[in-house]
Amino acid sequence: MYKTHGCGTLRKEHVGEEVVLAGWVHRRRDHGGVTFIDLRDESGLVQVVASPEIAAQAHEMLEPVRGEWVLRIRGHVRPRPPGTENPKLATGEIEVAAEAVEILNRAKPLPFPVHKDDPVDESLRLKYRYLDLRRSRMKRNLRLRHRVIRFIRDFLDARGFIEVETPILFKSTPEGARDYLVPSRLYPGHFYALPQSPQQLKQLLMVAGFEKYYQIARCFRDEDQRGDRQPEFTQLDLEMAFVDRREDVMDLIEALMTEMVRAVVPEKRLLQTPFPRLTYQEAMDRFGTDRPDLRFGMELKDVTDLAREVAFKVFAQVAQRGGLVKGLNAKGMGTLSRREIDELVKFAQQHGAKGLAWVVITPEGEVKSPIAKFFTPGQMETLRERLEAQPGDLLLFVADVDHDVTNDVLARLRVHLADRLGLRDPEVLAFAWVVDFPYLFWNEEENRWDPSHHPFTRPLDQDIPLLDTNPGKARGAQYDLVLNGSEIGGGSLRIHERWLQEKVFQLIGISLEEAREKFGHMLEAFEYGAPPHGGIALGLDRIVMLLADEPSIREVIAFPKNQAARDLMADAPSPVTEEQLRELHIRVVLPEEAKRS
Ligand code: AMO
Ligand code: AMP
Repeated sequence: MYKTHGCGTLRKEHVGEEVVLAGWVHRRRDHGGVTFIDLRDESGLVQVVASPEIAAQAHEMLEPVRGEWVLRIRGHVRPRPPGTENPKLATGEIEVAAEAVEILNRAKPLPFPVHKDDPVDESLRLKYRYLDLRRSRMKRNLRLRHRVIRFIRDFLDARGFIEVETPILFKSTPEGARDYLVPSRLYPGHFYALPQSPQQLKQLLMVAGFEKYYQIARCFRDEDQRGDRQPEFTQLDLEMAFVDRREDVMDLIEALMTEMVRAVVPEKRLLQTPFPRLTYQEAMDRFGTDRPDLRFGMELKDVTDLAREVAFKVFAQVAQRGGLVKGLNAKGMGTLSRREIDELVKFAQQHGAKGLAWVVITPEGEVKSPIAKFFTPGQMETLRERLEAQPGDLLLFVADVDHDVTNDVLARLRVHLADRLGLRDPEVLAFAWVVDFPYLFWNEEENRWDPSHHPFTRPLDQDIPLLDTNPGKARGAQYDLVLNGSEIGGGSLRIHERWLQEKVFQLIGISLEEAREKFGHMLEAFEYGAPPHGGIALGLDRIVMLLADEPSIREVIAFPKNQAARDLMADAPSPVTEEQLRELHIRVVLPEEAKRS
């Protein structure tokens, strides 16, 4: 090795020892003929001192050296002169007096500084990701990710799970997104699909008699990018045979998450254990979303019944047409200016609301509101009671014929206001389970049922008869895990009977022929003694993002794609040669826009 010690490992105990260090020049300072170098390697920083008195040649060698050059330094560890210790640095009590310096490599001036975590344009960071990853924030994030994964592996190993790798070149495994396809050279016109998850393969492992499987699995989904979505991402994917209740899986995952948090981020506070369990309906009613942030209240209140009675046409008509009118109480925000309230109205409209009705209760207890005139004093009193309004509060209401709009806008508003009020404390972790999802959602555009999870999920056993009579009422045997308002996992008990699987395919508009062509291997496997089974997948990137208190999963992935799904460093996707295309029997037909640019 080029070194005897890591820079960040030196302490007072090493004083007097000769050491050889190798690393990057983090910072360089010159003070009256003495050169100070902060030398950095993965273990941390140490101060190196060079002067003509210590060793003239070493001092001279450092003359041209600049930031991020790679050096090897031999010298003795000595205490820092009294008064110059740096308590903020682990190595702050000592320094290394340089006796020999070797330049291992030079560095051009960097496109952005890496010795501090100041904000840098993200495109630049991603283009030079290998430099961005030198920064301490990224080091911290990737180390945290490593510790999370390592904890998971140890935990599951201790409970008899084994990790099995499953193919990347496979066949479409639908999770509701578009597939990434890989053309086949050997079979013209045929394609592999990259798995959206190992769902089918893990179920087949259950049929194969592996009763406890897990995998840190890469998944691929061609869908619109967001802060918490990437085209390729990582799941903790898990499946167990002979589970008969949802709790068999949920309890295991709850123990895993709780113990992982305690071991890996002990400074964080788990808001509630056991994790609260909400039904889908309850989550929608109280929070307007199936992934509620439970770190704060500000729950939604249904006022549709009251709205039906009032003289305010917008409310009354929505209520009479079967719509939904709900509100929330932004506690203490009655002091917002008119302009600030108008911004909230704009926020609601940007997210699809037709408007946002507001009622301010002044600190003196008076009502100020453009809609107050449409309410009788009794109605206003009922409204205030329903929202538990106190002087100084701001009440906000959305009315819409489409229940999803009312819920979605208020759910977003709730989070937006909580951010403004500082109620989303990153040191607090609020986990929750959401269960009893509707098994199917009606797809208006396609005029058919869509699975609310995926087609391999089992309906609750007592609801199976409903598939014939009233499919919209059936509930799925599934569970979502939510953390601080993010969906971090989802799973279910599975179908293991061919007849039930075929019935479900038909319900969601997949004909028997199509089902046999696409999923024949699954249907057939179920006829060879498939055990009852169930499992879950957790979004690892999202979990680490939340534990690291980062705004996007790109911050916890070493080499992510940008928001337009491009790799800016390697410049992918990119064109390939005619020769490669010919081999793959592929001809590219560019859309008009692409030809012009
Ligand atoms: P699901 O599709 O709910 O379930 O995915 C499980 C979890 O994976 C994470 N996730 C993502 N993370 C980053 N980028 C993405 N594009 C992305 N998509 C999903 C989420 C989500 O909760 N096979 C089933 C699991 C099962 O039934 O066992 C599945 O994949 O945190
Ligand atoms: P208007 O009668 O359209 O001027 O609306 C009066 C108030 O009601 C304004 O503050 C609007 O933002 C609000 N408003 C309009 N439509 C809705 C709606 N669908 N839900 C909630 N508030 C609304």
